[in-house]
Amino acid sequence: MPRRAGRRSKGLRSAASARLIDLPRIANPAGNLTFLEGERHVPFPIRRVYYLYDVPGGAARGGHGHIELEQLVIAMSGSFDVHVDDGRSRQTFHLNRSYRALHVTRMHWREIDNFSSGAVCLVLASTLYDESDYIRDYDTFVRAARKRTVRKT
Ligand code: TYD
Repeated sequence: MPRRAGRRSKGLRSAASARLIDLPRIANPAGNLTFLEGERHVPFPIRRVYYLYDVPGGAARGGHGHIELEQLVIAMSGSFDVHVDDGRSRQTFHLNRSYRALHVTRMHWREIDNFSSGAVCLVLASTLYDESDYIRDYDTFVRAARKRTVRKT
């Protein structure tokens, strides 16, 4: 189980593989500020940061499963939809606020689409890039996810 987010973060919605976390916001007429502190607001040690930008209209990213990877996904600018699937159910989250993060836990299938013009998708990741953590075939992912669920019960 992921550790609970810090005191000032607020989990908005529970799901098998994803939940929204509201990050601290320092409001200012001259511009708002949001910050993240490792292992306080982020429920895992951050080992990698990457971001998607210049995404053309109609494009989709992701479309693969991850075995161990945990991620925090934030719409730094603009908006997009994140579809998260744990092999049994699928949820869609529309991200459009720089202070709202989506925590995607391990053993998930993730796709991102419906990018607005100029959208920037920031991802904080729990592991270094490792191709062997990817499952690129959906049916293989579902079998692996269900096997893991059965083993846990
Ligand atoms: P991929 O994760 O497949 O991107 P997406 O799912 O958004 O389409 O990665 C695309 C390419 O970028 C792939 O060749 C691997 C490389 N890559 C890295 O080298 N490091 C990284 O941290 C990430 C996320 C991708």
